[in-house]
Amino acid sequence: MDIRFDAATLTHEAGTALHPLTLSLAERRIGVIGLNGSGKTSFARLIAGLTKPSAGHVFLDGLDTVADADALRGRTGFIFQNPANQIVLPIIRDDIALGLKSLKLSKAETEAKVGAVLARLGIPHLADRRPHELSGGELQLAALAAVLVTHPQLVIFDEPTNQLDLKNRARVMDAIAGLNEQAIVISHDLALIEGFERVLVFDAGMLAFDGAATEAVSAYREIALR
Ligand SMILES: Nc1ncnc2c1ncn2[C@@H]1O[C@H](COP(=O)(O)OP(=O)(O)O)[C@@H](O)[C@H]1O
Ligand SMILES: [Mg+2]
Repeated sequence: MDIRFDAATLTHEAGTALHPLTLSLAERRIGVIGLNGSGKTSFARLIAGLTKPSAGHVFLDGLDTVADADALRGRTGFIFQNPANQIVLPIIRDDIALGLKSLKLSKAETEAKVGAVLARLGIPHLADRRPHELSGGELQLAALAAVLVTHPQLVIFDEPTNQLDLKNRARVMDAIAGLNEQAIVISHDLALIEGFERVLVFDAGMLAFDGAATEAVSAYREIALR
Protein backbone atom coordinates (compact mmCIF):
# COMPACT_ATOMS: atom_id res chain seq x y z
CA MET A 1 0.00 0.00 0.00
CA ASP A 2 0.95 3.58 -0.42
CA ILE A 3 1.37 5.08 3.05
CA ARG A 4 1.38 8.84 3.38
CA PHE A 5 1.84 10.99 6.48
CA ASP A 6 0.67 14.55 6.06
CA ALA A 7 1.95 16.58 9.02
CA ALA A 8 0.66 13.80 11.28
CA THR A 9 1.38 14.49 14.94
CA LEU A 10 0.78 12.58 18.15
CA THR A 11 0.73 14.34 21.46
CA HIS A 12 -0.08 13.00 24.89
CA GLU A 13 -0.60 14.99 28.09
CA ALA A 14 2.94 13.97 29.00
CA GLY A 15 4.43 15.31 25.78
CA THR A 16 4.88 14.72 22.07
CA ALA A 17 5.29 11.11 20.94
CA LEU A 18 5.54 12.09 17.28
CA HIS A 19 6.34 15.55 15.96
CA PRO A 20 4.63 16.62 12.70
CA LEU A 21 5.69 14.05 10.16
CA THR A 22 5.28 14.21 6.40
CA LEU A 23 6.47 11.30 4.29
CA SER A 24 5.41 8.69 1.73
CA LEU A 25 6.22 4.99 1.88
CA ALA A 26 5.44 2.28 -0.63
CA GLU A 27 8.32 -0.19 -0.26
CA ARG A 28 7.64 -3.87 0.33
CA ARG A 29 9.96 -4.04 3.34
CA ILE A 30 10.24 -1.07 5.66
CA GLY A 31 12.31 -1.11 8.85
CA VAL A 32 11.86 1.21 11.82
CA ILE A 33 14.62 1.61 14.40
CA GLY A 34 15.40 4.02 17.24
CA LEU A 35 15.95 4.19 20.98
CA ASN A 36 13.25 3.27 23.49
CA GLY A 37 10.60 5.98 23.58
CA SER A 38 11.64 7.49 20.23
CA GLY A 39 8.15 7.12 18.74
CA LYS A 40 8.36 3.86 16.76
CA THR A 41 5.24 2.23 18.16
CA SER A 42 3.34 5.52 17.94
CA PHE A 43 4.28 5.77 14.26
CA ALA A 44 3.14 2.19 13.60
CA ARG A 45 -0.14 2.56 15.49
CA LEU A 46 -0.98 5.64 13.41
CA ILE A 47 -0.52 3.61 10.22
CA ALA A 48 -2.71 0.80 11.50
CA GLY A 49 -5.39 3.29 12.56
CA LEU A 50 -5.07 2.09 16.18
CA THR A 51 -4.29 5.65 17.24
CA LYS A 52 -5.69 8.84 15.74
CA PRO A 53 -3.28 11.65 14.92
CA SER A 54 -3.65 14.65 17.23
CA ALA A 55 -3.19 16.81 14.12
CA GLY A 56 -2.58 16.11 10.46
CA HIS A 57 -3.53 12.96 8.56
CA VAL A 58 -2.33 9.49 7.66
CA PHE A 59 -3.48 8.04 4.33
CA LEU A 60 -3.29 4.45 3.07
CA ASP A 61 -3.83 4.26 -0.68
CA GLY A 62 -5.35 7.71 -0.44
CA LEU A 63 -7.82 6.77 2.30
CA ASP A 64 -7.70 8.67 5.59
CA THR A 65 -7.13 6.36 8.60
CA VAL A 66 -9.72 8.36 10.56
CA ALA A 67 -12.35 9.53 8.04
CA ASP A 68 -12.17 6.34 5.96
CA ALA A 69 -11.59 3.91 8.84
CA ASP A 70 -14.43 1.62 7.70
CA ALA A 71 -13.02 1.28 4.19
CA LEU A 72 -9.58 0.51 5.63
CA ARG A 73 -10.76 -2.12 8.09
CA GLY A 74 -8.79 -5.34 7.68
CA ARG A 75 -6.18 -3.93 5.33
CA THR A 76 -3.47 -3.74 7.99
CA GLY A 77 -2.48 -6.44 10.46
CA PHE A 78 -0.56 -5.59 13.63
CA ILE A 79 1.56 -8.01 15.66
CA PHE A 80 1.95 -6.38 19.05
CA GLN A 81 5.10 -6.35 21.09
CA ASN A 82 3.54 -8.89 23.42
CA PRO A 83 1.54 -11.15 21.09
CA ALA A 84 0.15 -13.17 24.01
CA ASN A 85 -2.20 -10.23 24.58
CA GLN A 86 -3.75 -10.47 21.13
CA ILE A 87 -4.58 -14.17 21.31
CA VAL A 88 -8.03 -13.91 22.85
CA LEU A 89 -9.43 -17.45 22.63
CA PRO A 90 -8.02 -20.35 24.67
CA ILE A 91 -7.24 -22.60 21.70
CA ILE A 92 -5.01 -21.38 18.87
CA ARG A 93 -7.16 -22.72 16.00
CA ASP A 94 -10.28 -21.03 17.44
CA ASP A 95 -8.42 -17.78 17.86
CA ILE A 96 -7.32 -17.85 14.22
CA ALA A 97 -10.86 -18.73 13.09
CA LEU A 98 -12.22 -15.74 15.01
CA GLY A 99 -10.90 -13.37 12.35
CA LEU A 100 -13.02 -15.14 9.75
CA LYS A 101 -16.26 -14.89 11.69
CA SER A 102 -17.66 -11.92 9.77
CA LEU A 103 -17.29 -13.88 6.49
CA LYS A 104 -19.91 -16.38 7.69
CA LEU A 105 -18.12 -19.33 6.11
CA SER A 106 -19.13 -22.95 6.60
CA LYS A 107 -17.30 -24.93 9.27
CA ALA A 108 -15.37 -26.82 6.59
CA GLU A 109 -14.34 -23.63 4.78
CA THR A 110 -13.19 -22.06 8.04
CA GLU A 111 -11.20 -25.17 8.94
CA ALA A 112 -9.59 -25.21 5.49
CA LYS A 113 -8.51 -21.57 5.77
CA VAL A 114 -7.16 -22.01 9.30
CA GLY A 115 -5.34 -25.17 8.21
CA ALA A 116 -3.82 -23.39 5.23
CA VAL A 117 -2.42 -20.51 7.25
CA LEU A 118 -1.01 -22.87 9.90
CA ALA A 119 0.66 -24.89 7.14
CA ARG A 120 2.00 -21.76 5.49
CA LEU A 121 3.77 -20.79 8.72
CA GLY A 122 4.88 -24.36 9.48
CA ILE A 123 2.87 -24.57 12.73
CA PRO A 124 0.03 -27.11 12.19
CA HIS A 125 1.16 -28.80 15.43
CA LEU A 126 0.17 -25.70 17.41
CA ALA A 127 -3.50 -25.79 16.33
CA ASP A 128 -4.87 -27.34 19.51
CA ARG A 129 -2.47 -25.74 21.95
CA ARG A 130 -3.16 -22.99 24.45
CA PRO A 131 -1.23 -19.70 24.39
CA HIS A 132 0.44 -20.32 27.76
CA GLU A 133 1.85 -23.57 26.35
CA LEU A 134 3.70 -21.73 23.57
CA SER A 135 7.21 -20.32 23.47
CA GLY A 136 7.75 -16.65 22.60
CA GLY A 137 8.49 -17.51 18.98
CA GLU A 138 5.47 -19.79 18.72
CA LEU A 139 3.29 -16.99 20.12
CA GLN A 140 4.61 -14.63 17.45
CA LEU A 141 3.78 -17.17 14.75
CA ALA A 142 0.33 -17.92 16.18
CA ALA A 143 -0.47 -14.19 16.30
CA LEU A 144 0.84 -13.84 12.74
CA ALA A 145 -1.40 -16.72 11.61
CA ALA A 146 -4.44 -14.97 13.11
CA VAL A 147 -3.48 -11.81 11.23
CA LEU A 148 -2.68 -13.47 7.89
CA VAL A 149 -5.89 -15.50 7.76
CA THR A 150 -7.80 -12.27 7.12
CA HIS A 151 -5.53 -11.37 4.16
CA PRO A 152 -4.23 -7.94 5.16
CA GLN A 153 -2.21 -6.06 2.54
CA LEU A 154 0.23 -4.76 5.13
CA VAL A 155 1.59 -6.47 8.26
CA ILE A 156 3.27 -4.44 11.02
CA PHE A 157 5.57 -6.18 13.51
CA ASP A 158 6.50 -4.40 16.75
CA GLU A 159 9.86 -5.79 17.94
CA PRO A 160 9.05 -9.37 16.90
CA THR A 161 12.33 -10.97 17.96
CA ASN A 162 12.62 -9.31 21.37
CA GLN A 163 13.40 -11.85 24.06
CA LEU A 164 13.47 -14.80 21.66
CA ASP A 165 16.20 -17.40 21.76
CA LEU A 166 18.21 -17.94 18.58
CA LYS A 167 16.06 -20.81 17.36
CA ASN A 168 12.77 -18.96 17.78
CA ARG A 169 14.33 -15.82 16.37
CA ALA A 170 15.32 -17.70 13.22
CA ARG A 171 11.80 -19.06 12.82
CA VAL A 172 10.24 -15.61 13.14
CA MET A 173 12.81 -14.11 10.76
CA ASP A 174 12.06 -16.84 8.21
CA ALA A 175 8.33 -16.22 8.53
CA ILE A 176 8.81 -12.49 7.90
CA ALA A 177 11.18 -13.12 4.99
CA GLY A 178 8.63 -15.48 3.43
CA LEU A 179 5.73 -13.01 3.50
CA ASN A 180 4.33 -11.87 0.18
CA GLU A 181 2.55 -9.07 2.00
CA GLN A 182 4.09 -5.65 2.51
CA ALA A 183 5.71 -5.49 5.96
CA ILE A 184 6.83 -2.82 8.39
CA VAL A 185 9.20 -4.17 11.03
CA ILE A 186 10.11 -2.25 14.17
CA SER A 187 13.23 -3.76 15.67
CA HIS A 188 16.32 -3.38 17.79
CA ASP A 189 17.50 -6.59 16.17
CA LEU A 190 19.46 -4.98 13.35
CA ALA A 191 20.00 -8.26 11.49
CA LEU A 192 16.26 -8.39 10.97
CA ILE A 193 16.12 -5.22 8.90
CA GLU A 194 19.35 -5.87 7.00
CA GLY A 195 18.63 -5.70 3.29
CA PHE A 196 15.32 -3.88 3.77
CA GLU A 197 14.55 -1.45 0.98
CA ARG A 198 13.92 1.41 3.34
CA VAL A 199 14.70 2.01 6.99
CA LEU A 200 13.46 4.90 9.13
CA VAL A 201 15.33 5.98 12.24
CA PHE A 202 13.35 7.81 14.91
CA ASP A 203 14.89 10.00 17.56
CA ALA A 204 12.84 11.80 20.24
CA GLY A 205 9.63 11.67 18.16
CA MET A 206 11.28 12.88 14.97
CA LEU A 207 12.43 11.15 11.83
CA ALA A 208 16.23 11.36 12.10
CA PHE A 209 17.12 9.28 9.05
CA ASP A 210 15.25 7.82 6.09
CA GLY A 211 17.08 5.64 3.59
CA ALA A 212 19.04 2.47 3.02
CA ALA A 213 19.48 -0.09 5.81
CA THR A 214 23.27 0.18 6.16
CA GLU A 215 23.27 3.95 6.51
CA ALA A 216 20.26 3.80 8.81
CA VAL A 217 22.12 1.50 11.20
CA SER A 218 25.07 3.93 11.22
CA ALA A 219 22.74 6.83 11.96
CA TYR A 220 21.13 4.84 14.78
CA ARG A 221 24.53 3.96 16.27
CA GLU A 222 25.49 7.63 16.23
CA ILE A 223 22.31 8.54 18.10
CA ALA A 224 22.86 5.76 20.62
CA LEU A 225 26.42 6.85 21.36
CA ARG A 226 25.62 10.53 21.58
N1 LIG B 1 -0.62 6.38 25.69
C1 LIG B 1 0.40 7.16 26.00
N2 LIG B 1 0.28 8.17 26.90
C2 LIG B 1 1.30 8.99 27.20
N3 LIG B 1 2.52 8.90 26.64
C3 LIG B 1 2.72 7.92 25.76
C4 LIG B 1 1.69 7.00 25.38
N4 LIG B 1 2.18 6.16 24.44
C5 LIG B 1 3.46 6.52 24.25
N5 LIG B 1 3.79 7.56 25.03
C6 LIG B 1 5.09 8.25 25.06
O1 LIG B 1 5.41 8.63 23.74
C7 LIG B 1 6.79 8.43 23.48
C8 LIG B 1 6.98 7.48 22.32
O2 LIG B 1 6.52 6.20 22.69
P1 LIG B 1 6.57 4.96 21.72
O3 LIG B 1 5.98 5.34 20.42
O4 LIG B 1 5.94 3.82 22.44
O5 LIG B 1 8.13 4.72 21.55
P2 LIG B 1 8.98 3.45 21.10
O6 LIG B 1 8.03 2.45 20.49
O7 LIG B 1 9.98 3.98 20.15
O8 LIG B 1 9.64 2.89 22.34
C9 LIG B 1 7.40 7.92 24.76
O9 LIG B 1 7.95 9.01 25.46
C10 LIG B 1 6.21 7.35 25.52
O10 LIG B 1 6.42 7.39 26.89
MG1 LIG C 1 7.63 0.53 21.00
